[in-house]
Amino acid sequence: MFNKRIKIKKLLTEQPSGQQVTVMGWVKSFRNNQFIALNDGSTNNNIQIVTELGKFDETTLKRITISAALMVSGTLIPSLGKGQQMEIKADEITILGDSDAEKYPLQPKKHSLEFLREIAHLRFRTSTFGAVFRIRHSLAFAIHQFFNERGFVYLHTPIITASDAEGAGEMFKVTTLPFDNTPRTPDGEINYKEDFFGRATNLTVSGQLEGELGATGLGDIYTFGPTFRAENSNTPRHLAEFWMIEPEMAFYDLEDNMNLAEEFIKYIIRYAMEHNAEDLTFLQQRLIEEEKLLPQDKRSEMGLLQKLEFVLNNAFERISYTEAIDILIQSPPYKKKKFQYEVKWGMDMQSEHERYLVEKHFKKPVIVTDYPADIKAFYMRQNDDGKTVAAMDILAPGIGEIVGGSQREERLEKLGTRMKAMNIPQEELSWYLDTRRFGTVPHAGFGLGFERMVLFVTGMSNIRDVIPFPRTPKNAAF
Ligand code: 4AD
Ligand code: MG
Repeated sequence: MFNKRIKIKKLLTEQPSGQQVTVMGWVKSFRNNQFIALNDGSTNNNIQIVTELGKFDETTLKRITISAALMVSGTLIPSLGKGQQMEIKADEITILGDSDAEKYPLQPKKHSLEFLREIAHLRFRTSTFGAVFRIRHSLAFAIHQFFNERGFVYLHTPIITASDAEGAGEMFKVTTLPFDNTPRTPDGEINYKEDFFGRATNLTVSGQLEGELGATGLGDIYTFGPTFRAENSNTPRHLAEFWMIEPEMAFYDLEDNMNLAEEFIKYIIRYAMEHNAEDLTFLQQRLIEEEKLLPQDKRSEMGLLQKLEFVLNNAFERISYTEAIDILIQSPPYKKKKFQYEVKWGMDMQSEHERYLVEKHFKKPVIVTDYPADIKAFYMRQNDDGKTVAAMDILAPGIGEIVGGSQREERLEKLGTRMKAMNIPQEELSWYLDTRRFGTVPHAGFGLGFERMVLFVTGMSNIRDVIPFPRTPKNAAF
């Protein structure tokens, strides 16, 4: 058996009393030909390895360069030096993989996040990305745990689909038809009958419609998978491929939906705070350093941990869209004409408006409900006022929209009328309408953008830095 290593995270919790241990990892630094800082990705903390003078030959020592991969066996002893409690007195060092220090792109100095994005294949070896991706993992795990504890079924909705759930038309086509000599129908249209699936298909923008089918039989379901949007938004908040969590619950109204969403967000934040304290503290410090470059008024009012704690301890503000518009119209930036986009009832709120509400006005997460029907998807339940729908978006400080959801229109006739008005062919969605034909029930659900959640928890500022290999307009490297 090759792998008899102990992970450094575990090792650092042991009492050093001369026990024999084996670790494997990558060299962070090698001082005085004597002290190796080794890291294996289980934690940002390194283990110090001490090589006694004269014990190892020159050729081995020369190969202990930055980011070389080593296997080290030795005894774990209390450290004599300052800065660490324990160290390994090496008996045996095997170089598993050499690393040419001159050519290694990650020199031991501070690199910009932009630069690290270009070498995303190596950025996992940095402390920042180690922390980010361990937290991302924890959040994903907590999500499954949250729903499992509540009896939800994890439903795998399809990635290739023929429907446009959001009706926004921002889809990547999936086809095997040739670009030249594309088969055409007699009237010149592309003949998708000859395509792989015998019809036009695309990558899913949301698993919701299929999720609703699951919920109206299984009760409570959730999806957690990749979704794709071909929107040309080159912003720090948008990806062309992102992960979304979409719970869908039978026998739920809008208020039930909001309660679950708030409980859910708090649960996964709490989980990360309990399980990733060290990484969060590291990222908090990183943020403070980063913000030193900014003018005072641009810096965060709270530290990262304080911000998360604050979210846990305070109820999210709940206001209607109409109230939100009123607040915006009364606001100093509106009066001083500081908003770039106009504010009036019926408009889709822009990020500047959302951020004013959460960051300046309420200073905490805000749930906005009952949006104008005209700016929302066809499946949202129509309110009695004839103008609004039972939608809810959750806006988070520093991020803007993090959740979008609604109670669904369960009344067949009303849904039909809405679809007609929006030119959505009912024949194509007859399977969806069947759930309203046979034992329809009030139901609701929402979608949480996973990367936006990771952004919020890690305090990172660009969505490209919280997904291993970001896909954005004109970029699909790796
Ligand atoms: O608001 P959206 O478009 O809602 C839906 O897709 C619904 N079907 C969800 C549901 O009710 N089941 O997207 C949901 C969330 C947004 O609030 C945002 O957090 C995230 O997904 N999101 C994106 N994240 C990264 N990049 C993008 N391009 C995103 N578009 C949406
Ligand atoms: Mg939305």
